[in-house]
Amino acid sequence: MKVSTLSAAVSCIASVAAFPQYLETRDTWEPQEWIAPGPNDSRGPCPGLNTLANHGYLPRDGKGITLDILKKGMLEGFNIEEGDAILLFTQAIRTAPDYPLADSFDLANLGRHGILEHDISLSRSDAYFADPNPFNETVWAETESYFTTPMITVDQLAAARMGRLATSKATNPEHELSALADGFSWGECAAFFEIMADGTTGTVDKKFIEYWFKNERMPTEIGWQRRKTTMKGSERLEYSLKLIIAGGQVDDQSFNRLLLH
Ligand code: HEM
Ligand SMILES: *[C@@H]1O[C@H](CO)[C@@H](O)[C@H](O)[C@H]1NC(C)=O
Ligand SMILES: *[C@@H]1O[C@H](CO)[C@@H](O)[C@H](O)[C@H]1NC(C)=O
Ligand SMILES: [Mg+2]
Repeated sequence: MKVSTLSAAVSCIASVAAFPQYLETRDTWEPQEWIAPGPNDSRGPCPGLNTLANHGYLPRDGKGITLDILKKGMLEGFNIEEGDAILLFTQAIRTAPDYPLADSFDLANLGRHGILEHDISLSRSDAYFADPNPFNETVWAETESYFTTPMITVDQLAAARMGRLATSKATNPEHELSALADGFSWGECAAFFEIMADGTTGTVDKKFIEYWFKNERMPTEIGWQRRKTTMKGSERLEYSLKLIIAGGQVDDQSFNRLLLH
């Protein structure tokens, strides 16, 4: 009797243990299949768009991205409002070799130095030293040295970005940061809190950020979920301002510089 009570209890515990998993499966969002890019696939300096292409939310070859493709890909992949894709597309298209005739861009086009691609990237080399398109371990190690707690804060990320700026100024004889690039750079930082978190906390789990940058893959297998509310472009402005203040750039022209991305 005791034995059967015990085994009943065990099987009860077992089903309780299994149940949350079942619930979780029902509640969780699963991305489309991730496939590593091949040698002829176009990839560029943007970890966000590279990731969308690796999951097939953008063409897997990274080429011929039209406004309609971009709107759908950003919404389905990261839950970003279509208005934001419209705004960013006006910038992306400028990197197409046949601009202003172009109606699409390739991901590698984004890395043409001095159009959108800029120095001081968090995970890419300045173009003076090496190809600014691929993920760069050395640069990323510098950035990561500022992430000293399991949750990355606005202050830490702002300090990392200012650190990359100082390094570039000190070592790159061709260092340059246009007003557009300055604003873009802050907007790129804002993505940490809006896309890799849900935009409400001002923090983001360091392991999601590491996984995302290194693999250009959505970190669902380590617990990340696509945000449930649709991201508005205005959120980027809000986080960019917080970051600029944390970075101590308020007295600069940064408020004027705040543009897109
Ligand atoms: C049409 C939409 C987009 C365009 C045209 C675009 C373009 C770019 C470009 C040109 C860069 C390189 C700048 C540089 O660091 O030199 C970049 C970097 C970046 N992008 Fe995007 N992007 C787009 C969407 C996104 C999305 C949806 C995300 C987030 C999920 C994102 C996150 C980032 C981040 C974090 C960086 C900085 C990488 C680094 O500093 O190493 N972007 N993007
Ligand atoms: C990549 O392109 C080259 C040159 O066109 C071709 O020879 C090669 O087979 C392609 N590789 C793949 C994996 O498609
Ligand atoms: C990574 O970036 C550093 C610093 O800019 C550069 O010296 C190095 O050549 C880059 N590595 C690769 C593999 O491109
Ligand atoms: Mg760059």
